[in-house]
Amino acid sequence: MIIGCSHGKHLAKKIAKHLKKPYSELYTKKFPDGETYLKFNVNLKNKVVILIQSFYGNVNDCLIETFFAAKTARDLGAKKIILVAPYFPYLRQDKEFRTGECVSIKSVADYIDSCIDEIFIIDPHLHRKNTLNDIFKIKSYKLSANRLIANYIITNLKNPILIGPDFESYKWAKESANFIGSESIILEKRRCSPRKVKISHDENLEIIKNRTVVIVDDIISTGNTLLETIKLLKKYAPKSITCIGVHGIFTENALKKIQKTRVKVVSCNSIPTKVSKIDLSVMITDELKKKIKLLN
Ligand code: R5P
Repeated sequence: MIIGCSHGKHLAKKIAKHLKKPYSELYTKKFPDGETYLKFNVNLKNKVVILIQSFYGNVNDCLIETFFAAKTARDLGAKKIILVAPYFPYLRQDKEFRTGECVSIKSVADYIDSCIDEIFIIDPHLHRKNTLNDIFKIKSYKLSANRLIANYIITNLKNPILIGPDFESYKWAKESANFIGSESIILEKRRCSPRKVKISHDENLEIIKNRTVVIVDDIISTGNTLLETIKLLKKYAPKSITCIGVHGIFTENALKKIQKTRVKVVSCNSIPTKVSKIDLSVMITDELKKKIKLLN
């Protein structure tokens, strides 16, 4: 039984169709005081329940809804509860940077472990943790959109050179470049605050002159990483710049700000926006089929 949660419906419907499995939408509403109400409209007894929920907009509401849904599914007799999280939050808060700070991902993972049996996450932001097993106790699967990003680039752009804005982005920029067989360059980023970053590169970037440049990163949030990267790259007169993010959160008018620099912006549909042109549904379906024997 595939369940489309409030922020996962756009993918859940397609996944259920590809899997040829029943689909039902979770009914949710808010009480006047902001509390969450939800209700399943199908019988879940002895079912393998796949909750599809992405985490954007009011992230904390999405989390509460997911916890309530999982616990309710269990109470209703579900045999197994699987969460597919196209975008999973809080992964960047994986360390006590200053004394007294909450390592938020630890608490979030504790809740997930308490109510979910297996979790699938697309391109989780793993930085200080190597694998999802370092975060969750339950069975966890990391999926990647790199091949889809590479396919998008192959179809739409000729002879590209891929740029990763910071050290971590090699997992997307370099890996996608490997699929394409194109060159890639990884820049250096210094984060001064949540809204301020500095991008630099030790070597001369003359190589991008007159080239089709594609910046690839996992998350586009405030867009400042991209804006600073674009500023640096434009000094070297590339022919064009396209920005691709797996997860286009686009907070604080980020999309408009980036588009104002006259570059093209594209993302995957882990978060649905008007630029989420890369569809993840088939890839997620294939991975679910591979990992969950009961689905075949
Ligand atoms: C973090 O290092 C990520 O890979 C992204 O580069 C970052 O989250 C982007 O954030 P923003 O768009 O706010 O600069």
